[in-house]
Amino acid sequence: MVGSVGNGLMDLCDKGKVEPLPKEFDTTDIVEPVPTLDLEGVGGEEGSAKTREIVLGRNVHTMCFTIKEPEVDDEVTGEREAYMASVLARYRRSLIERTKHHLGYPYNLDFDYGALAQLQHFSINNLGDPFIESNYGVHSRQFEVGVLDWFARLWELEKNEYWGYITNCGTEGNLHGILVGREVFPDGILYASKESHYSVFKAARMYRMECVKVDTLISGEIDCIDFKAKLLQNKERPAVINVNIGTTVKGAVDDLDMVIQTLEENGFKGRFYIHCDGALFGLMMPFVKRAPKVTFKKPIGSVSVSGHKFVGCPMPCGVQITRLKHINVLSSNVEYLASRDATIMGSRNGHAPIFLWYTLNRKGYRGFQKEVQKCVRNAHYLKDRLKEAGIGAMLNELSSTVVFERPKDDEFVRRWQLACEGNIAHVVVMPNVNIDKLDSFLEELFQKRSCWYQDGKMPPPCIAADIGQDNCFCVLHKK
Ligand SMILES: Cc1ncc(COP(=O)(O)O)c(C=O)c1O
Repeated sequence: MVGSVGNGLMDLCDKGKVEPLPKEFDTTDIVEPVPTLDLEGVGGEEGSAKTREIVLGRNVHTMCFTIKEPEVDDEVTGEREAYMASVLARYRRSLIERTKHHLGYPYNLDFDYGALAQLQHFSINNLGDPFIESNYGVHSRQFEVGVLDWFARLWELEKNEYWGYITNCGTEGNLHGILVGREVFPDGILYASKESHYSVFKAARMYRMECVKVDTLISGEIDCIDFKAKLLQNKERPAVINVNIGTTVKGAVDDLDMVIQTLEENGFKGRFYIHCDGALFGLMMPFVKRAPKVTFKKPIGSVSVSGHKFVGCPMPCGVQITRLKHINVLSSNVEYLASRDATIMGSRNGHAPIFLWYTLNRKGYRGFQKEVQKCVRNAHYLKDRLKEAGIGAMLNELSSTVVFERPKDDEFVRRWQLACEGNIAHVVVMPNVNIDKLDSFLEELFQKRSCWYQDGKMPPPCIAADIGQDNCFCVLHKK
């Protein structure tokens, strides 16, 4: 069965049960089943001490909405239109239900872009450089540049000194930032903490860069002692460093100042390029009191952020800002576009800049500050309630990502769309995650948990290696 862990401890209460689709999404009459692929236990990081079977979610390929050739009389009978409308209506209802039970991925699902519906009929494409108009006139560069200016100001880079563009996602920002670093230092070695997002290691593979993984502290942030040791092993080659402004799993923020100090004290002054991966937290941290600053006043090369995470864009997008002087190395003029090519992608979503522009205008710095404070407050509430209930949990000081013991039942994990790694899971508290939602999650978790652990007769797992002894409530570490 796809979705079962099969370690004997799982599914104690609901053995063998597969989570049904939301009630209102009974697809039996509109989908065609295709043979199920046996995907159980695929993957697992080779050689990792934490090797554990990856339980893939229910495979989408077991169901799909088939596309059928229209019948000749469809237009007359209206049957086709009715069929499509019913599929869409059911799909919409399932989205409403799934949105209600989403906690694990850092997407802010609280927005209203009704005013932008009027633009849906246009094929807006910003292909090429945001600052140089191409011959394609249906673009939104006016909005894109406004958004880029806003971010450049936030990260303290003068208008005439920055270059950037609106990407398709945080991954593209990382691919671009690391590419710029590689172009600035073609023989540079890429350093990234082992808790960096997988897109960083993908960039290393794509660009065939030598990549050194650096150890992390229990919080998830880069261990600068190990960083120093690894730098010293490669003293003769420049360094390209990915600095995490919020890691994916633990929301840990690498100490940028310490990274810079380590580089400069060990003979790398003028021979390093830092890309800051701020996919989630890049836009939250500026509004957290006492948080260290990400700023181009420090010797960094680029910063990227996702637009569909904290900002709350309904489509994946992101922002990448770098120094103008770096960009000339990797750009070339394209006559066909009458523009310059310096982006990773060719065609670029021209709707995304408008959504970003709309949100930034509406909320402003003050609006974001308020939302960040609410997220952090609610994250503390969640962490405290988990701990009060004897569930191991951790919340990094600057973060709204609450890490806790992985729920024992994959059905529960899927229902709440939690992100898991090894023995831990996390909830990322975004502006749409309010106390009511957290309460109903907690209530359900407590109920299920007393069943999984037979009202305390079975011991919960030890997660001290993931979140530290102080945060773990296993038999050994319970105070
Ligand atoms: C730290 C970090 N970097 C990069 C990414 C990739 O962002 P995206 O999903 O927008 O491609 C993520 C996504 O969760 C992330 O957590």
